[in-house]
Amino acid sequence: MTYKRTLITAALPYANGPVHIGHLAGVYVPADIYARYLRLKGQEVLFVCGSDEHGVPVTIRARKEGITTQQVVDRYHELIKRSFADFGISFNIYSRTTSAIHHQFASDYFRKLYDEGKFVEQTTEQFYDPETGHFLTDRNIRGECPHCHSLGAYGDQCEKCGSTLSPEELINPYNAETGNPLVKKPTSHWYLPLDQYQQWLEQWILEEHKEWRPNVYGQCKSWLDGGLRPRAVTRDLDWGIPVPVEGAEGKVLYVWFDAPIGYISNTKELCDAQPEKYGKWETWWKDSSTRLIHFIGKDNIVFHCIVFPAMLKADGSYILPDNVPSNEFLNLEGDKISTSRNWAVWLNEYLDDFPGKQDVLRYVLTANAPETKDNDFTWADFQARNNNELVAIYGNFINRALVLTGKYFDGKVPAQGELTDYDRQTIDEFRNVKVELERLLNDFRFRDAQKEAMNLARIGNKYLADTEPWKLAKTDLARTATILNVSLQIAANLAIAFEPFLPFSSAKLREMLGLESFSWENLGRTDLLAEGHALGEVSLLFEKIDEAPIQAQLDRLARIKTENEAAAQAEALKNWQPVPVKTATNIDEFDKTDIRVGTVLECGPVKKSDRLLQFRIDDGMGGRTILSGIAQSYPDPSVLVGKQVLFIANFPPRKMMGIESQGMILSAVDADGKLVVTTVTAPVRNGAQVG
Ligand code: MF3
Ligand code: ZN
Repeated sequence: MTYKRTLITAALPYANGPVHIGHLAGVYVPADIYARYLRLKGQEVLFVCGSDEHGVPVTIRARKEGITTQQVVDRYHELIKRSFADFGISFNIYSRTTSAIHHQFASDYFRKLYDEGKFVEQTTEQFYDPETGHFLTDRNIRGECPHCHSLGAYGDQCEKCGSTLSPEELINPYNAETGNPLVKKPTSHWYLPLDQYQQWLEQWILEEHKEWRPNVYGQCKSWLDGGLRPRAVTRDLDWGIPVPVEGAEGKVLYVWFDAPIGYISNTKELCDAQPEKYGKWETWWKDSSTRLIHFIGKDNIVFHCIVFPAMLKADGSYILPDNVPSNEFLNLEGDKISTSRNWAVWLNEYLDDFPGKQDVLRYVLTANAPETKDNDFTWADFQARNNNELVAIYGNFINRALVLTGKYFDGKVPAQGELTDYDRQTIDEFRNVKVELERLLNDFRFRDAQKEAMNLARIGNKYLADTEPWKLAKTDLARTATILNVSLQIAANLAIAFEPFLPFSSAKLREMLGLESFSWENLGRTDLLAEGHALGEVSLLFEKIDEAPIQAQLDRLARIKTENEAAAQAEALKNWQPVPVKTATNIDEFDKTDIRVGTVLECGPVKKSDRLLQFRIDDGMGGRTILSGIAQSYPDPSVLVGKQVLFIANFPPRKMMGIESQGMILSAVDADGKLVVTTVTAPVRNGAQVG
């Protein structure tokens, strides 16, 4: 270990909405575990975060809610800050990027690089709304998709066909807010020439940081392999930090330029306010004996591993991150978490529904941490982990050890008599836990680390089950004393081992044990509680969660899903435009197509295809099989059985998924893309021709 202190940062959340379990699992809980662990080890740690209050998302939110941008960031900053405090995220400072200190600091940072000629200035043509006098960001531009011709595609993506777009490709681009048509207008911006840092970054990341998580290293490598290009660090916007250059009116620093500087300015804010406690901010940012660790989500990798380091390097006086532990995403009940679709568990709402159960959520999120791949949060798993692990293993062990001590020894730690081989074996086992825990925590493997802590509780539980002190008490009180002494020492170890993960429960357990000395170094010791030491009041560490509150959560999600589907349908109908009529044809051309009526005899899914349905049709000519790509529109295909449908009878047979399809079923396409099979208005003989 060559460093003297660790500076831990957690990605600054956008102040455009409350925080949800995805944020907590991906960034804040792992960062907090790490910070608490190092503090418990007696290391010097600073844990810094704050709200990211600039950028387009907050302005969009303001318009949506009909309030000012300042009101939006004020509201969500407070809400987010309170949620983090509620969940025990132990930041030394949680500030915000609209603070005066930050504005000054970020502005000066830009100006220094500007004066040193570290930026290049470039003029490009951008979309401009002459009506409002604003340049528009990609997301605020809409228009017709050049691929699927749906209207209302965004400047960066068509949500209908999924293609990635640039605003230039849109047909008839317009301002998403006002509907005004747009024109191109030249505008100049400052760029950080990342291409000039390419070689240095390749050396620094690809050669010197091979130990970074594979997902982080891999993303960096693919960015570097693709070749870095200059990146604009300013924007035409009226919300943000004004570009401190003469003639740059109406331009602000790009949010991704100012936000990471927030890590530094927040550190400065804290150190300036309490220098005797935290020292100089420069010590945390400019002294090579400080180790810098950024905790982030995977969508932030390029900014923290490439752009921000290049900014720090451009200045030249800063240290660089030592590691950037980044997580993948957490899904909710199988679907991507989405703020706009309200598909999330919001931290503030969770605490309304499960008051006092912060640690349960922390536990479940770490147990499912998306460290190496996307992972899923389900309420069934939440309940199971609470009931089968926290209650049945950890809580049960603590409760038994404490209640038995109360019963047989008046709540005082009994004497540790002679240890048996089995006692020693148990103690050895739990001593190993410390080594293993440290190895995993040092490696940012929090999920496995927490499992290891739970193993300690398992060891305790097994020890009690094997030794059965409740039976021995009547015949051998001395042996009972030893067993309970060892059990209480394990309990004290558990309070320490779980502190980084479950701080609230550890505090409670510590109180129940009357435990004073509390440091990581004590882990593995069997003399943490002295003979005769009086335990505190005993209560349950965890409580069982029954079916009703879980069902209530599932019902809420089901309601949201229904609402979202209805909203998507309404949106599709609103945007629907008649498809232009095909070029003229004539009766002879049409006559070549043989359309018939047939009755559906059977209809079911095709194995390994989520698109195809397989029909058996009575076509009046001996029957035929037809495959049709309408499975998404008919979740229950049996509703089609017995219906008379229209099909094309003279297409050449075609094999799909190993099945021969002899024709095509005719369907109408609704506004939302749903396919509806066509039929006749009165029964006719199967095989009847349509024309
Ligand atoms: N607000 C960004 C997000 O939520 C993260 C900013 S991290 C910082 O994705 F480094 F810029 F601060
Ligand atoms: Zn499209």
